[in-house]
Amino acid sequence: MVPFTNPPFAYRDGHLYCEDVALKDLAAGAGTPCYVYAANGIRDRFRAYQAAFQQMPHRICYAVKANSNLAILRLLAELGAGFDIVSAGELYRVMQAGGNPGAVVFSGVGKTRDEMAYALHAGIHSFNCESAPELELLATVARAKGLRARCSLRVNPDVDAKTHPYISTGLREHKFGIAMDEALDLYRRFQDEPALEWIGVSCHIGSQLLDVSPLAEAAEKLVAFVATLRANGIAIQEVDIGGGVGVRYHEGEAAPELSVYGQRLLQAFAGAELTIVAEPGRSLVAEAGVLLSQVLYVKTSGEREFVITDAAMNDLIRPALYDAHHEIVPVHWQPRPAMVADVVGPVCESGDFFARNRQMSVVEPGELVAVCTAGAYGFVQSSNYNTRPRPAEVLVDGARWRVVRERETLAQLIAGETV
Ligand code: LLP
Repeated sequence: MVPFTNPPFAYRDGHLYCEDVALKDLAAGAGTPCYVYAANGIRDRFRAYQAAFQQMPHRICYAVKANSNLAILRLLAELGAGFDIVSAGELYRVMQAGGNPGAVVFSGVGKTRDEMAYALHAGIHSFNCESAPELELLATVARAKGLRARCSLRVNPDVDAKTHPYISTGLREHKFGIAMDEALDLYRRFQDEPALEWIGVSCHIGSQLLDVSPLAEAAEKLVAFVATLRANGIAIQEVDIGGGVGVRYHEGEAAPELSVYGQRLLQAFAGAELTIVAEPGRSLVAEAGVLLSQVLYVKTSGEREFVITDAAMNDLIRPALYDAHHEIVPVHWQPRPAMVADVVGPVCESGDFFARNRQMSVVEPGELVAVCTAGAYGFVQSSNYNTRPRPAEVLVDGARWRVVRERETLAQLIAGETV
């Protein structure tokens, strides 16, 4: 049976393609390991979000942390995306890519004074704040600049996102947000602060949500909370519901339909006269990317079979960090026997694996494999561990492709260091 792949990746005559480009041609041109992204795959997903929200005032702010390559930011900016950032570095990227700072929301529990100043100066749309001391510092920084900071408070709706504990954020026990009762006090306390302007309420309950119910439940709680705020004389215009829906990493997995997600949110927002802001990251880019790698060796050790690839945990850390599943498929497919193997990289630790005890087709040294659904939280979480250059990144657009980040050189690996 032909291996599972997410569109826009598909086999044609036994060769795996990204849109209209064969991955074998990319490997020949750009080398391996490299990340490959499908421009039209990303555009389609963005348009699906727009369609899901078309019946309500909305703003889609792409979560830059999912994949911050300039070419991808540019592509989304061209479609009219706003951006959700969590650092001055991400804001710098957005502006370098031609994104509009006026459509940026700044999330995160630990913004520094310098980051606030930079973002205020750039004229971002709003700050999603998470504590009283943060609001105090933001007011101080804004006052010093003679500016006003538009703000939302990130509240904690106490909803269980039912996802991996490391990426679940909406419960009281988490470091994120402020409990709703405490938040009301803060909205009141800072209402008369001239350097701040309340515009919204935000939340983010977690990532990789395969059920939209917790998102709808959080939205309902936020909309109800807005009514309380408005009754207290606080003029709220928008509700930011945080990240988007989950994606399909397994063949057996079903990701939520964006139309269903939109419908549920529409119900939650009915009659509320609010702009909905969403910060999807993963669901815009994950399925549009693979990590392309070459098999270096196949070895048997005791009972176990190991497939050793030229990509490693420093390139894609999700399996090592979250025990995440990524399908691994041969780039040239022909019917062949199956085996059970561990797919591992060259890094010197046992945590360096892409798959363990994986039922997969027999692969041979020298052949190419694609680690699927790697467009989100892939390259952005890469490192130089073991002094390995980070991989190239390639963007495919129909039948054209180009390198949008060069593979690092040995000289770049030691840049900035001295003896
Ligand atoms: N907004 C906020 C405030 C967030 O913290 C996040 C993700 C998002 C939006 C985007 O959520 P998404 O639409 O991507 O689900 N490294 C992990 C994922 C960490 C997610 C952190 N926050 C992984 O590889 O699974």
